[in-house]
Amino acid sequence: PLIPVVLSGGSGTRLWPLSRAGYPKQFLPLAGGAHSLIQQTVARVSGPGFAAPLIVCNDEHRFLVAEQMRAIRCEPEAIILEPVGRNTAPAVAVAALRALAAAESGADALLLVLPSDHVIQDVAAFHAALTVGRQAAEAGRLVTFGITPTAPETGYGYIQAEAPLPGADGAFALHRFVEKPDEETARGYVADGSYSWNSGIFLLSARAYLDELEAHAPAILAAARAALEGAASDLTFLRLDATAFATAPSDSIDYAVMEHTRRGAVVPVDMGWSDLGAWSSLWDLGEKDAHGNVSRGDVILEDTASSYVQSEAGLVAVSGLSDVIVIATDDAVLVCPRHGAQGVKQVVDRLKAAG
Ligand code: GDD
Ligand code: MG
Repeated sequence: PLIPVVLSGGSGTRLWPLSRAGYPKQFLPLAGGAHSLIQQTVARVSGPGFAAPLIVCNDEHRFLVAEQMRAIRCEPEAIILEPVGRNTAPAVAVAALRALAAAESGADALLLVLPSDHVIQDVAAFHAALTVGRQAAEAGRLVTFGITPTAPETGYGYIQAEAPLPGADGAFALHRFVEKPDEETARGYVADGSYSWNSGIFLLSARAYLDELEAHAPAILAAARAALEGAASDLTFLRLDATAFATAPSDSIDYAVMEHTRRGAVVPVDMGWSDLGAWSSLWDLGEKDAHGNVSRGDVILEDTASSYVQSEAGLVAVSGLSDVIVIATDDAVLVCPRHGAQGVKQVVDRLKAAG
């Protein structure tokens, strides 16, 4: 079976004030419905063909994770606790080492690496893509899942495919991977037509990943090994050795491995994927009224269009505006243009600096 590796270390600052350091976006039911993004992520990969997940998160969020998994009756294989965030390359390394340690001696393990901040509307298409990708991953490829780009987004990785892979119908060798290009470069890639966005989901053999890490980022591998060797286990929690893990260079799987590997593959997939990166993406996904507004909670809109308004506190009224985002919580209110919603990150940086 595939071993889901759920990454839950991000803090989701662009969704402030709802997403907070102590309660980041993956724990919120942002896509609507009763379940949080991480619960939906895990639910998509439970059932036949999938092992119990390995969840990698910050130590601070251990009870949130445990409680949210209990609520959906998921029993993780382990909840691996990071003392500090070191981005995704070390997190996946620790999961790969742990999966190999638990496998029969000499056996490999197939990991399905999943971000916990996404929406996938067509789960059948997602599963079909996994079936395609699995053949390539078993042959030692580091498999990515490519999404057709709709705009020159600079927050994504871009993947250029080359020839179809023999023996894995629907998978292509990966020619080039460029993480977060500047806008002009992204524009060129979108116009070119041969690039897709990296969905952030990876299917890879634990050994293949660790080999590539050894080749391209050996310090990350060494730190992950030491952190796991010194780990303390407490029921399902596995607490990494803090001193060892802190020595890991902070880097993402995208920069550390995918930009350099020559064993990459891509499976293009149309699965209603969306990254809930900023408030504007909640407007994109949400159900709109006759004036193109999306509202949640106790909200009154008057002569207002194309806006996203959410209240978690009292009544919020908006009048005579268009293309705005208004978010009200118990102790903070955000107002910004719908097309400038990435700027929220700067607000949060100032708050952090101010302590
Ligand atoms: N355990 C752990 N530890 N998880 C982490 C850490 C960490 O230090 N840092 C981030 N994560 C988790 C996040 O919670 C998220 O679920 C996932 O890993 C990806 O991290 P992001 O920080 O959200 O990455 P990104 O959105 O900038 O870029 C990635 O995703 C894009 C698609 O959404 C890349 O893979 C891009 O190439 C890709 O296009
Ligand atoms: Mg993300």
